[in-house]
Amino acid sequence: MGKLAPVWSKLTPLMVVRGQGAVVYDQDGTAYLDATSGIAVTSTGHSHPRVVRAVAEQASRFIHAQVNIYTHDGLQRLADRLDEITPEGIDTFFFANSGAEAVEASVKLARQYTKRPNIITFQGSFHGRTAQAMAMTTSRTGYRAGYMPLPAGVFVSLFPGFPTASGSRRAGTVEALDYLDYLLVGQTAPEETAAMVIEPVLGEGGYLPATAEFLAGVVERCRKHGILFVADEVQTGFGRTGRMFAVEHFGVVPDILVMAKGIASGFPISAIGASEKVMAAWPTGSHGGTYGGNPLGVAAALATIDVIQEEGLVGNARARGAQLEAGMLKLAEKYPNVGRVQALGLMVGVEMVDPETGAPDSGLVQELLRELYQSHRIIAMSAGTFGNVIRWMPPLVISEDQVDAIVRGFGDSLSAILGKQGAQTV
Ligand SMILES: Cc1ncc(COP(=O)(O)O)c(C=O)c1O
Repeated sequence: MGKLAPVWSKLTPLMVVRGQGAVVYDQDGTAYLDATSGIAVTSTGHSHPRVVRAVAEQASRFIHAQVNIYTHDGLQRLADRLDEITPEGIDTFFFANSGAEAVEASVKLARQYTKRPNIITFQGSFHGRTAQAMAMTTSRTGYRAGYMPLPAGVFVSLFPGFPTASGSRRAGTVEALDYLDYLLVGQTAPEETAAMVIEPVLGEGGYLPATAEFLAGVVERCRKHGILFVADEVQTGFGRTGRMFAVEHFGVVPDILVMAKGIASGFPISAIGASEKVMAAWPTGSHGGTYGGNPLGVAAALATIDVIQEEGLVGNARARGAQLEAGMLKLAEKYPNVGRVQALGLMVGVEMVDPETGAPDSGLVQELLRELYQSHRIIAMSAGTFGNVIRWMPPLVISEDQVDAIVRGFGDSLSAILGKQGAQTV
């Protein structure tokens, strides 16, 4: 009998047979509210009819049209659509299959454009699991342990407000920028630095948004030294934060924009975008892949972008995100075990802490995830370097009633667990 590799961790024992919107169904037809979107992927919900139709229609014409061999009609259309929705100046696109691949592509492009070797990333980031992306990932040692040595040339600067084991926060904007300057003097000279790669909101690292002042400072240093500013919007892109791309909240424009996850409602396609000038520096034939720009992924992406725009999902992410954040803040008032609530659109992070010391409480997160699943049929995930953040990332189509159900289920779960432990509630 064939077995599945045990390397996959499992959040739930659920065997799903169908999904619709924010809900998945098991073999018995029992419904579960999927507040994970399959890790921030199913932007238009599970199996949105327009995405399904687009993929089915495309599959009936052809499934694979390899980009080095011929061009298919979807490629130009997707480039046009991405040109319309991405920040000013980004008009040329390359397609790959996963977030990690797109991150790697951005690094390869930055190195070719600048002719420089090094990359700066920021503490707490997650950029993926392939060798280069892993070398850039510092959200947890678990993603790197056992895989060293990793590719060299990656230097890690501070992300403002990063959490500590004591529950305090370190590095304000000024301190984080000072450290970046120090890095450019002490470790990687500007003339050897190709790019600074940053998530505008730390995802896996705990749903921590950067500050506008910090990102402005990063961009200023990039411009001053001819370093490319790369925004990893794999998790934050396509409306998740209540803007099409998270950089729009902060008034900064990346030289390279990295996209995946929400781009195609679950189809494995990713992209990087840059100006024509930057892309022109990438020697033809020096990068590529068998499946990049796959017609089914392109069809799913085109339909997803249409749905996001025509169904007003960016606005819904803002409204439902505000509703979810308000619900979480109310619970934070009631339970001292709920620490900071950090939110941007439908990226809502809720820290769980020891009420006496403020230290991270990952055990409580695990209990809450179990209780939410078993008693309320709500699927949620954790995040954060200390594993003490519940991250809410439901599909952008989530309804007001479904957000109410999440808030109610979370409140009831807190009450059930903390009541049992005898922990204090006020
Ligand atoms: C910000 C960010 N970058 C890159 C990745 C890697 O994407 P993938 O898992 O598709 O390789 C992720 C995945 O969670 C991510 O959140």
